[in-house]
Amino acid sequence: MNKKTIRTGIVGSGFSASFHYEALRKAYSVNIEIIGVHSLDQEGGRKYAEKREIRFFEQLDALLGEVDVIHVCVPPIGHEPVSIAGLKRDKFVICEKPMTGYIGDDSPGFHWERADKQVALQTALASIDRMLEAEEKSKGRLLYAENWVYAPAIQKEREILEKTGGQILWIHGEEAHSGSHSVDYAYAARCGGGVLIGKGCHPLTAALYLKRVEGRVRNDKPIRPKTVTARTHALTRLKQFRDEGHIRKDYYDIDDFSMMHVEFEDGTIADIIASDIVLGGIHNWLEVCANNHRAVCNINPNTAMMTYNPVEKNFADIYVVEKIGTKQGWACTSPDEDWVTGYPQEIEAFYRTIAYGEPLESDSRLGADAISTIYSAYLSADRGGAAVEIKTY
Ligand SMILES: NC(=O)c1ccc[n+]([C@@H]2O[C@H](COP(=O)([O-])OP(=O)(O)OC[C@H]3O[C@@H](n4cnc5c(N)ncnc54)[C@H](O)[C@@H]3O)[C@@H](O)[C@H]2O)c1
Repeated sequence: MNKKTIRTGIVGSGFSASFHYEALRKAYSVNIEIIGVHSLDQEGGRKYAEKREIRFFEQLDALLGEVDVIHVCVPPIGHEPVSIAGLKRDKFVICEKPMTGYIGDDSPGFHWERADKQVALQTALASIDRMLEAEEKSKGRLLYAENWVYAPAIQKEREILEKTGGQILWIHGEEAHSGSHSVDYAYAARCGGGVLIGKGCHPLTAALYLKRVEGRVRNDKPIRPKTVTARTHALTRLKQFRDEGHIRKDYYDIDDFSMMHVEFEDGTIADIIASDIVLGGIHNWLEVCANNHRAVCNINPNTAMMTYNPVEKNFADIYVVEKIGTKQGWACTSPDEDWVTGYPQEIEAFYRTIAYGEPLESDSRLGADAISTIYSAYLSADRGGAAVEIKTY
């Protein structure tokens, strides 16, 4: 195979920029030249570049002048402006989750619990419209980096749906752990909301994706979400919360527990839970109950490997699994966490689309449907769980 060469640049130099870089190194169908990185954090960006022997660009524009693709690895507030800057220069844009959102109203006293959720929804939808319009006018494309779509268990389920023509009746899924490391995460004005968007977007998008696949198989028409009913809670901000030191609890205004009940246009359903109050490591799973099969997609933990360690300190410099509280005793040690999470498969698939035009599974419309569902869910929660219609793309 005559491999194409694609020049790429990374925007942001934090956590996600690191795993994007690792995944880029594993792509095999395309020669990827990682030209450089641009980051608002000049010092961190330079360190990131130095460590990987790539160039640091002070200006986004300068990086855009030298690449075919950018990876948007910045917080949600930057997703729209950075993506649109790339699309305007006809670049392919790989945008981290969530695609965009409502990032507060710039007022110093902004508090998510008091924010008008109708305004939040309309603002997020307007942002989506601008991003989709920029994509429409561009020779590039917006590729939505939802790694759950590319997690091996979800792609296996896609194969089952394609080969058996199954009808999904109910999906339930969850993303949870005991609290994000990020300081910004405590503030809705920096992240577009709380756990419902931050974690809920992952299993939700996987559920939206699988119903799309089902419709695509049956009559080439995706099955879209129609309404959502949701509740959100702030359990660690309850006066009654008894802190034993295992769960993060310094959130300013965000929800740390959320549930969404989605009804699709064919009347079938999905239930998505996301929380920051679950001990024992990250808990990411999705179960599909179809008319002809049932599938439990264990993303993390799973039992590919189990370890028993009698002495905590023996595993001091061994990575076991994301967010595990202790390494003593039995653990579902992940031999290759990036792989079960779908990071390298996502990047490989994106570059096959970019270089050879292969079909794109996680596109901007899937990202847009997820955002629309999420802010409709926040509106529903604000109305005590009343069903809210979802605009789809
Ligand atoms: N798919 C996943 O599993 C996953 C995991 C973690 C984070 N994320 C997503 O990745 C995104 C970034 O999160 P993170 O954990 O890497 O954050 P981070 O704080 O670790 O890093 C963000 C970086 O972006 C830089 N930055 C901020 N605004 C910028 C701008 N406008 N232009 C250039 N650089 C800018 C910061 O200086 C920093 O280097 C978020 O949208 C988050 O939701 C996804």
